[in-house]
Amino acid sequence: MNPQDRLIVALDVPCRDDAMGYVDSLLPEVRQFKVGLELFCAEGRPLLDEIRDRGGRVFLDLKLHDIPNTVESAARILHHSGVWMTNVHASGGPDMMRAAREAFPEEQLLAVTVLTSLDQRTVNEFWGTEYGIEQIVQRWAVAAQEEGLNGVVCSPREIEPVRRAAGSQFTVVTPGIRPRWAASGDDQRRVTTPRQAVFNGADYLVIGRPITGAESPKDAAGKIVKELRDEAGDYDG
Ligand code: C5P
Repeated sequence: MNPQDRLIVALDVPCRDDAMGYVDSLLPEVRQFKVGLELFCAEGRPLLDEIRDRGGRVFLDLKLHDIPNTVESAARILHHSGVWMTNVHASGGPDMMRAAREAFPEEQLLAVTVLTSLDQRTVNEFWGTEYGIEQIVQRWAVAAQEEGLNGVVCSPREIEPVRRAAGSQFTVVTPGIRPRWAASGDDQRRVTTPRQAVFNGADYLVIGRPITGAESPKDAAGKIVKELRDEAGDYDG
């Protein structure tokens, strides 16, 4: 895949003007943008249309989770909205994932596995399971694949386990990316560099603050694409 096509910039901003400011300054170098709950609740579908009209592709990160009938209806609307990539919670179960797939048939439909905000202790105590997060992610990745979903969203630490469980044709999208030169990990618990994530098997990288918080978002995005192209750099190990 062209390194440029791997990049998805997270528009974690509260309103249209902020979002379109980034879209306009990043296109055409960046073509893919993630719209999450906050921005979608604020601006709704017109913003999706605006990004698309400018030539961008939208990953609508709503993490749908409800009964199959409700998720199917929502996914159908997203399909007709021209959304390129969207997601559902794998924990909604196989029937829900299948219903979403039927309603969103052509573009990228991903399963969200275990949120990066949950740790092992919470998963064990709150969900009442003995399984490790890695095992759960692998089981749900395989279940998503069986229901015809394209791939999963997972943390950098789960890229390799997902690849082992679901193979090379399954799409892996990961947040938690920090170039070496970026200021800090912010609230990301475990981070990896763009090149390391791709080396480990990620297809798409969701990157927010290292780009949107940079003095020049365009230069920061260009630097990341260049690093992905550059064969000579070293990996984290
Ligand atoms: O940290 P950054 O600004 O690059 O975040 C990009 C995306 O990563 C966010 O839109 C969110 O979906 C995801 N994220 C996460 N875990 C965190 C913080 C952000 O998965 N702790």
